[in-house]
Amino acid sequence: MRILLIGSGGREHALAWKLAQSPLLGALFIAPGNPGTAQCGTNVALEVTRHADVIAFCKTEHIDLVVVGPEAPLVAGLVDDLDAVGIKAFGPSKAAARLEGSKAFTKELCVEAGIPTAAYARFTDCEAAKAYVRAQGAPIVIKADGLAAGKGVVVADTLEQALAAVDDNLGTGIVGAEIVVEECMFGEEASFFALVDGTNAVALASAQDHKRVGDGDTGPNTGGMGAYSPAPVVTAEIEARVMAEIINPTVAAMAKRGTPFKGVLFAGLMMTSAGPKLIEYNTRFGDPECEVLMPRLKSDLLSALLATIEGRLRPSDLVWSDDAALTVVYAAKGYPVKPETGSVIGSLDGAAALQGVTVFHSGTKRRDDGTLVANGGRVLAVTGMASTIKEARDRAYAAVDAIEWPGGFYRKDIGFRAL
Ligand code: AMP
Ligand code: GLY
Repeated sequence: MRILLIGSGGREHALAWKLAQSPLLGALFIAPGNPGTAQCGTNVALEVTRHADVIAFCKTEHIDLVVVGPEAPLVAGLVDDLDAVGIKAFGPSKAAARLEGSKAFTKELCVEAGIPTAAYARFTDCEAAKAYVRAQGAPIVIKADGLAAGKGVVVADTLEQALAAVDDNLGTGIVGAEIVVEECMFGEEASFFALVDGTNAVALASAQDHKRVGDGDTGPNTGGMGAYSPAPVVTAEIEARVMAEIINPTVAAMAKRGTPFKGVLFAGLMMTSAGPKLIEYNTRFGDPECEVLMPRLKSDLLSALLATIEGRLRPSDLVWSDDAALTVVYAAKGYPVKPETGSVIGSLDGAAALQGVTVFHSGTKRRDDGTLVANGGRVLAVTGMASTIKEARDRAYAAVDAIEWPGGFYRKDIGFRAL
């Protein structure tokens, strides 16, 4: 088969790395890709937001399947547009991707389907939101609706912080914005992934990421500074509950609405004292969770993606290694506020050659002279695999130490909750 993979992060390098091992693969193209994906296939400089360009490329190159990595093209309806011209694509439709694109939509669906999640209220009016926040008290969570809202999520410890977050989103001069105000939940977080073929859902191996930038889970939130799999917090019993109480009711509700979900359903969970509750949905693989899941996947990824698209997914389509994997994100200094790009990264080949180590690229760039430089916030995801999480961690950090990159930094405590 001839595959086009959309995206350019560490997630897409991990997907490309795994797809490249498929016995079904004929050719792999990645748009736009990165220097890591270039080792797995051919990078193509497509402007992914121009769906007509993607379609034209697929026709010229006789692409059999498009695999969409990130959320933005899903929410923009790339899968629908490919579908309309008869090109197979992996990922949810625009309507189904609302589970990630609209927090308000997801909250409504949770109420309708009885899915455990934080109590909430929606606001477009600043004063009404503030009155509600004052009545509820802190801690409380303020979320901007929509993908590109920019302000994201504020977990406010004080009333002042909460009111300031409301102002930031709905204050004077801001038109058409909407926020969700949520009860603050407490507990350990986990990332839960399932492949969903419209009707059937099959859980992936468990994983957990580290969202905060600093050691000990301190500092601002990031896309993720590291991850490991399996996540001991997700026991077999918890997995069964999540499937029964959260994932399966969601799949059924989406089908009932006439917008069946096909793709990767990624639930951010809080393990509260009352059981697992949904924080939010994403409609794609996690990054950096994908960089620990793909190395642990023993069965063929491409076959599983095809079974998902064709509505014939079975639990036996996903077979996992008993080994653990842990990835350390090597980020550019200044991330997540203002990452410094352009610094030179050395000795990567030596690190990648270490036993049980895979180095995934995300924000890297190769200069014309072949030098590898930082080109984003999260730059590398250095994954170690071994029979235990501790050994996997030791392997990942040995590889990190072998990389020469004065322009980068990383967390030194990835996996601490599992150890
Ligand atoms: P989100 O973008 O919705 O995943 O939120 C980002 C982070 O904010 C989550 O990973 C949690 O750490 C935190 N968060 C979001 N919603 C809540 C909530 N209702 N209670 C506590 N923490 C939350
Ligand atoms: N690591 C969390 C995410 O991909 O959104």
